[in-house]
Amino acid sequence: MQIIKSCSALNSINFQKPFAFVPTMGNLHEGHLSLVKFAKENYSEVITSIFVNPLQFGKNEDFASYPKTLDKDIQLLEDLDCNYLFLPEPNFAENLEVIKPNFSDVLCGLSRPTHFDGVLTIIDKFLRLIKPNACLFGLKDYQQQLIIKDYVNKKKLRTEIISLPIVRENSGLAMSSRNNYLSKDDREHCGIIYSCIQNAAESLKTSPVKIVIEKATDFLENAGFEIDYLEVIDANNLSLITKKTNKILIAVAVIYKKVRLIDNIIVSL
Ligand code: PAJ
Repeated sequence: MQIIKSCSALNSINFQKPFAFVPTMGNLHEGHLSLVKFAKENYSEVITSIFVNPLQFGKNEDFASYPKTLDKDIQLLEDLDCNYLFLPEPNFAENLEVIKPNFSDVLCGLSRPTHFDGVLTIIDKFLRLIKPNACLFGLKDYQQQLIIKDYVNKKKLRTEIISLPIVRENSGLAMSSRNNYLSKDDREHCGIIYSCIQNAAESLKTSPVKIVIEKATDFLENAGFEIDYLEVIDANNLSLITKKTNKILIAVAVIYKKVRLIDNIIVSL
């Protein structure tokens, strides 16, 4: 695997097409690796990036302490035969004009008001620099991939945005670098976030949305979770469900022992 640290080195690469790009913030786990595996299976070459993007962290968030495991990450990517790893310098995120996305005033955007500006600004820079045929994202960050798809469509960028399924721990907890902040027992307990939204999806067949939300909220609060949001909305536009809705998103963000965890499930109608 070739490691690239500068934009000029990146510009001199002649990627074998079609090639795929997997942006990450490192501390790689099976969720990230599922994207790299998919890319290896479906494209001629794969470039992964590791960059803890300061623009997407709020003032009181964990930018400084975000877990960094570069040597292990490199080994994991080597094991998957990833072709290139891009490690931008810290100044990669400097002097960029902030891009304001659509769909950022709900869900995670409410408690993290500048988060998606930061994500989109850096992804725009990556896409314009690397120009991959495809860029891969996980559905764990549902709002993130929707925002990026919308932007890429609107700007007519020539990269296909591909969204891939959530990879989970055995307990059902969606894998996340932030799970490292929790003990093994806590991670086991947090598996009930997924069972809760699975039950909610099932209940939607027979109960009104309001009741489903109330039941799920009670369940999670009784299990010790503080709820940031629990929403049942149209998966295509993150708005209220209407008669035209053909895909429902059940999305949840909770805080458990100071760790913010998100998860979601899609129900096709
Ligand atoms: P990061 O949290 O490192 O995630 C990188 C990619 O891995 C994202 O597309 C995310 O959705 C995906 N991912 C994380 N956990 C996953 C899981 N359990 N199952 C499937 N996919 C999973 O998301 C970011 O970084 C940043 O916002 C980034 C896009 C790199 C921009 O800075």
